[in-house]
Amino acid sequence: MPAIAQLCFASNNEHKLAEIRPLLPAGLTLLSLADIGCHEELPETQDTLEGNARQKAEYVLQHYSVACFADDTGLEVTALNGAPGVYSARYAGPQRLAEDNVTKLLQELTGAADRSARFRTVVALAEADGTVREFAGEVDGHITEAGRGARGFGYDPVFVPAEGDGRTFAEMTSAEKNRISHRARAVMKLLAFLNEE
Ligand code: IMP
Repeated sequence: MPAIAQLCFASNNEHKLAEIRPLLPAGLTLLSLADIGCHEELPETQDTLEGNARQKAEYVLQHYSVACFADDTGLEVTALNGAPGVYSARYAGPQRLAEDNVTKLLQELTGAADRSARFRTVVALAEADGTVREFAGEVDGHITEAGRGARGFGYDPVFVPAEGDGRTFAEMTSAEKNRISHRARAVMKLLAFLNEE
């Protein structure tokens, strides 16, 4: 059981919160940004996943004095030289619309022989004493020719994990996605670290 009893997850993304909650042990309460009274947009101006995750976690610690962790995720597509990567949220423009991002991705990959890709998540933990630690998680897979499935969020309808059975993440339950996902892998490393502390 981690010594720490509650931890804020520095994200306004309900899908991410819903994915992460079931991973936590019973004695560890996950606080949302709303729970700690943080309603502003968190800064995310770095050009790496590591930098953005760290920036968000440090912001919450500094402004709200709450130990927290933040994640930043990128979809890295081989045929696009690792794009959209750290720019995955704004791939099709500043509106950050998942549907537009997916449409643009499928257009960019028209006729591509290599559709391999991976999701990479970096979780940054900012502890009460100001220490920041990073934990990474990845999942390899490929991008479909068209979207399939209604669950999940973001690029889930067009991502088929290599370790799965051919379904996209959006065709899986949250528990199925959590068994192999980039985010779950990073969060499990974070939990292992908290357990050791
Ligand atoms: P961020 O980590 O919220 O900045 O996410 C960057 C982009 O990747 C956004 O467009 C998200 O919708 C997308 N994204 C993040 N995590 C996932 C995931 O688990 N599945 C599909 N898309 C994701």
